[in-house]
Amino acid sequence: MNKLEGTYSGRYISGHVPENVFPENGISSRAAYEFIHEELNLDGNPELNLATFVTTWMEPEADKLYMENAHKNFIDNFEYPQIKKIETRIVRILSELYSLKDENKFFGASTIGSSESIMLALLAQKWNWKNKMKSEGKDCSNPNIVFGADTHVVWDKFARYFDVEPKIVPLDENTLRVSPEKLVSMVDENTIAVGAVMGTTFTGAYDDVKKINELLEDLKNKTGNDVPIHVDAASGGFITPFIEPELEWDFRLNHVKSINVSGHKFGLVYPGLGWILFRDRKDLPEDLMFYVNYLGDEMPTYTLNFSRSSSNIAAQYYNILRMGKAGYKKIAENVMDNAKYLAEKLKNVKDIELVSAAEHIPVITFRKVSEDEYSLFDLSSEMKKFGWIIPAYSLPENASHMVLMRIVVREGLSMDMIDLLYDNILEGIKNLQGNADKMRQISPRKGHFVS
Ligand SMILES: Cc1ncc(COP(=O)(O)O)c(C=O)c1O
Repeated sequence: MNKLEGTYSGRYISGHVPENVFPENGISSRAAYEFIHEELNLDGNPELNLATFVTTWMEPEADKLYMENAHKNFIDNFEYPQIKKIETRIVRILSELYSLKDENKFFGASTIGSSESIMLALLAQKWNWKNKMKSEGKDCSNPNIVFGADTHVVWDKFARYFDVEPKIVPLDENTLRVSPEKLVSMVDENTIAVGAVMGTTFTGAYDDVKKINELLEDLKNKTGNDVPIHVDAASGGFITPFIEPELEWDFRLNHVKSINVSGHKFGLVYPGLGWILFRDRKDLPEDLMFYVNYLGDEMPTYTLNFSRSSSNIAAQYYNILRMGKAGYKKIAENVMDNAKYLAEKLKNVKDIELVSAAEHIPVITFRKVSEDEYSLFDLSSEMKKFGWIIPAYSLPENASHMVLMRIVVREGLSMDMIDLLYDNILEGIKNLQGNADKMRQISPRKGHFVS
């Protein structure tokens, strides 16, 4: 069987390409390229992927810098000192963006994404708590961490991987949010940190960080228990400072000790880039730093992984210089306007009800008014026929009976495309209403993984 027959790569090679084994001999570069290129054409179109927060387009100059730096291992600071300097500049710039006033205290790092950033931040909090308990002669064998059920899965991962008891606050069934009072009521002497999210993965909602800070301050005044907040601003960190500068959520609040943000979300860089920022160098315990000297210099590292490319950091710096605050603000305003435009249109769809409509970040979620005829999982499958990728998923505990669909409006989704998307949603619903019985038999009823 000649698998390449009829494909473009078939012009450059005859015979079968063994897909699953290490081939004994190679093929020409043209054939290898075409073969892989053709297969990857079967992937979804990133521009129609409304499930993702992650950047799918950069300017050609950013692409150029990206390729120019792909072969530089970022961790080799001695060999590539300039990219390290650029990383430090970005950490300083973001710390200032998040209201850190004392510029001598800033400390942070680039990571491969918010997941790594969150793990690093929470590890630092665990160590700080352990050191505090030890210094007070107290037991430090039962750390816990308090966060809402609507945080990203990485919070649970941290708890499990690093042996910290997760104290998870369920959603309020009516507001579909986590109340600050409930969060802080779970705090005790063994709490290493409280998590607050600026843009939950499930609905895009913001936790009231200011209120959490206030309640923790009260707790400190009453009991002496001084508990830090880590803010997960994976999505909101590159939106809120530009369009809601008056919202207090960052280092203006004294319990906020660390913040993460994804450079590859609204930082507008391709995937593989996150940032972790500390309020003070002292919030990162020295025993967590590793100093590596075999690459020619004594390098401090605070990462979970080691080698990676320098591309994203160069691209992040490009975006910062190229757009400035005004450029980021303009894009943030555009995506918010477009998201609100879509939300207004969706209000006309009888079958669905909006749950969130781009309050702080350009995320729209909706549920079905009744679960008869078809489900949102069916609608999600239907939308794929038009090329759109829109996930359906159930909410976490206390609202797990509720299924939502989520649309993330990114820069590539213009108003014209939104009109088309809206028409396709109506058409999808019409098809499902006509085929309800058939759909019930064939629907896989499986949700997407919400990332
Ligand atoms: C709120 C939140 N936190 C953390 C993450 C994980 O981020 P990353 O994909 O950058 O590791 C996500 C991803 O969507 C998220 O939405």
